[in-house]
Amino acid sequence: MPIYQRRGEVPPKRHTQLRRDGLLLTEEVFGLEGFSGNESILYHLTSPCRIKEIGKFEPIQRDEWVPDGHAHRHFLTADIPAEGDAVTGRKVLMWNNDVEIAMCRPAEAMGDFYRNGEGDEVIFVHEGSGTLETIFGDLPFREGDYIVIPRGTTYRFADAAPQRCLVFTSPGLIETPRRYRNAYGQLLEHAPYYQRDIHPPTELKTYDDRGEHVVVLRIKDGYQRYLLDYHPFDVVGWDGYVFPWTFNIADFEPIAGRIHMPPPSHQTFQGRNFVICSFCPRKLDWDPNAIALPYHHSNLNSEEMIYYVSGNFGSRRGIEVGSITLHPSGIPHGPQPGLVEKSLGVTETHELAVMCDTFNPLRLSSWAQGLDEPGYAYSWYAPEGDIPESEIPTIP
Ligand SMILES: [Fe+2]
Repeated sequence: MPIYQRRGEVPPKRHTQLRRDGLLLTEEVFGLEGFSGNESILYHLTSPCRIKEIGKFEPIQRDEWVPDGHAHRHFLTADIPAEGDAVTGRKVLMWNNDVEIAMCRPAEAMGDFYRNGEGDEVIFVHEGSGTLETIFGDLPFREGDYIVIPRGTTYRFADAAPQRCLVFTSPGLIETPRRYRNAYGQLLEHAPYYQRDIHPPTELKTYDDRGEHVVVLRIKDGYQRYLLDYHPFDVVGWDGYVFPWTFNIADFEPIAGRIHMPPPSHQTFQGRNFVICSFCPRKLDWDPNAIALPYHHSNLNSEEMIYYVSGNFGSRRGIEVGSITLHPSGIPHGPQPGLVEKSLGVTETHELAVMCDTFNPLRLSSWAQGLDEPGYAYSWYAPEGDIPESEIPTIP
């Protein structure tokens, strides 16, 4: 995030001595893209290389579901059970080489610390609030927040308060869209949010206890455990441009028009070969002849996943809170029969949804198969989109 931040104590010049009680602190440059990207500089009580024991490495196992038929999909996630913690409880729905999309409803507090060493993370908090404890300080979060966590950030969710989250993980950088920024990184006047809407860590807490702590590192498509004999949050100060932050979806200023505005007007983040968009309550198209619902479109080289957060989604039938639709590449989609006619003259929408468009095909997990609602692909078939359940053919 191109905002300079500073917490705790740092020396007046980088790469110079900083001491605490006579102890020379260890400086760590925490940088992206070698030494050419954004970076922060952290000052540790203990060398961050210090490890008491290298634990087990566990490769990530993904059970893939390869449907026989290529079709639109609808997954029902409202009733998924709570399990695991805020990291181990993540259940992958779909993935490709650019992004992995998971749901998480944790049942227990995190014991170990976690660091994603091979990916940026964006966690959309549908339900819940709390504090993300990080090496950069405490980051409070609340319902509707996107929590943006740069790779390499050691963190732990502070408690086990009930949460329902949608988790995006990417080996590429997840950033604010480039077209929203000027040459200096500042968000432009036409951007739907401003730096003031970005919330960095509040308070840096420095821990000097010498007890044993486990850090789980995600790396090389697996999880590597390390045992430390000191608390990993031993930073007395840091400054720079890399840190976790939150942005609340309610602070996204929707862009409306006289006639229909296309999905890129809802873009919130850019990733490597994917985008994340926020569909927020807004006034609808005001031309007397406007059709406010999306036109049918063929995502010829992209896949479109939408997570429905709240409100009525006017262009979709049979969708409920927690629904996820996946409109895959190569086939068109649009409002079901009857919905366009019904929408004429409607002046506003209260929908809230998070969309991820990927530019490479997504693979599905067997966990997603268990949430699949098989009638969805045929919901354009009946004149009103409603087919008696007994007549719904089975989708392969
Ligand atoms: Fe679409």
